[in-house]
Amino acid sequence: MDKASISFNNKTYEFPVVSGTENEYGIDISSLRKDSGGLITFDRGFKNTGSCKSSITFLDGENSILRYRGYSIEDLADKASFLEVTYLLIFGELPTKDQLDKFHADIKDESHVDEEMKKILDGFPRSAHPMGVVSSLTSALIAFNPSSVNIESDEDMYNAIVKLVAKFPVLCSWALRKKLGRPLDYGDDNLDFVENIVKMMFKKPNQEYKINPIVVNALNKLLILHADHEQNCSTSTVRIVGSSHAGLFASISAGVSALWGPLHGGANQAVIEMLEGIKKDGGDTKKYLEKAKDKDDPFRLMGFGHRVYKNYDPRAKVIKRSADEVLNDLGVKDEVLDIAKGLEEEALKDDYFVQRKLYPNVDFYSGIIYRALGIPVDMFTVMFALGRLPGWIAQWREMRQTKEPIGRPRQIYTGENHREFKSINNR
Ligand code: SDX
Repeated sequence: MDKASISFNNKTYEFPVVSGTENEYGIDISSLRKDSGGLITFDRGFKNTGSCKSSITFLDGENSILRYRGYSIEDLADKASFLEVTYLLIFGELPTKDQLDKFHADIKDESHVDEEMKKILDGFPRSAHPMGVVSSLTSALIAFNPSSVNIESDEDMYNAIVKLVAKFPVLCSWALRKKLGRPLDYGDDNLDFVENIVKMMFKKPNQEYKINPIVVNALNKLLILHADHEQNCSTSTVRIVGSSHAGLFASISAGVSALWGPLHGGANQAVIEMLEGIKKDGGDTKKYLEKAKDKDDPFRLMGFGHRVYKNYDPRAKVIKRSADEVLNDLGVKDEVLDIAKGLEEEALKDDYFVQRKLYPNVDFYSGIIYRALGIPVDMFTVMFALGRLPGWIAQWREMRQTKEPIGRPRQIYTGENHREFKSINNR
């Protein structure tokens, strides 16, 4: 089981097979091009290509398993706080009470953002998409924290991590408050981490903010469920940007931009827009399933399908259950929840979706909860980024500390062969 061979042009090349702690196997082709005099593999979208070894998150798409550092997502969503999961993902272990208290105290100490940053925020029109605002502000943090992380120093690494974990939620709440035309808020050190995020986002300037435990618990669960997902598009972006030794803040800013796309984290916004469209069109879910199956129709069933999950996304299961609970507890009736459930029920019986193993993913129901919590639809992907931050940081730290080489894939060139230059009069 520890060797694989590739034959080409009557020659056979042997390669070692690497394996992990969950019986996954990969052919290590690091010497392929050198041994064969130029042969490379070709794998559009890296669907069959492992980019790294990682000990952070394990994902089994066939059996709907997702674990952070060995703990199941169901257990963590049910029993942990988002701050505990942040610590677990980044440092590898669930924190003791003292470790968690110190982590939170250090975060509170760094939860201010330089006043000058407000000038950058002021430069955006209120209509700016919050993801663009958050990506820019995250990148701007570099200007106020110029020293790049010395990854040889645990203290330097810890301080950079605390700064980002502390300031990112402030920037996300500022993006929302800018949109709503509300004065910026710094939160309250007497609150727990997620309570503080909720207050920074929703507090009205003229009112005492009353923490609603239903909202806090729902957000705590959603942030945990989004916290990491191994080598997805935005995490791979964070790792490849960091592999050039660009700083942590710059790498995370790039990850925010990658997450924005509707095929990735932007899908939670696209799902609600799709469901609203179906509702406006009379709620005819069968018509939209047919559109999703029609190759000539660009319509896709947003929130459905996944590169890795060929079974139900375990996060979607937890979120769907939580959507029922939260809407019920808040006394919110949202017609699109019923439309979503109807779509799911019909799709899971439809050959097109069954054959392609297309199931609801993390984005299919999350927007329904965000909306019930009073979060505007174009802030949904910012909430995804807020959850994903610890995963991005953990993966960046692992990539730098394991001294990964700069990421630089090869290509198969399909352009013009050599041709002589022609002066402009002869073209
Ligand atoms: C996230 O990677 C991660 O881990 C991501 C994520 C994370 O936590 O980081 O889980 C978060 O991004 C979840 C996915 C959110 N995106 C969406 O919901 C957008 C809708 N889904 C699709 O666009 C699609 O399913 C992807 C992008 C998620 C996955 O695409 P793949 O793996 O490249 O699969 P594919 O596009 O090659 O599809 C395979 C087949 C195709 O049909 P055939 O050509 O074989 O006939 O399935 C079809 C596709 O047309 N298909 C869909 C579909 N998704 C796939 N058809 C209709 N509706 C869909 N949603």
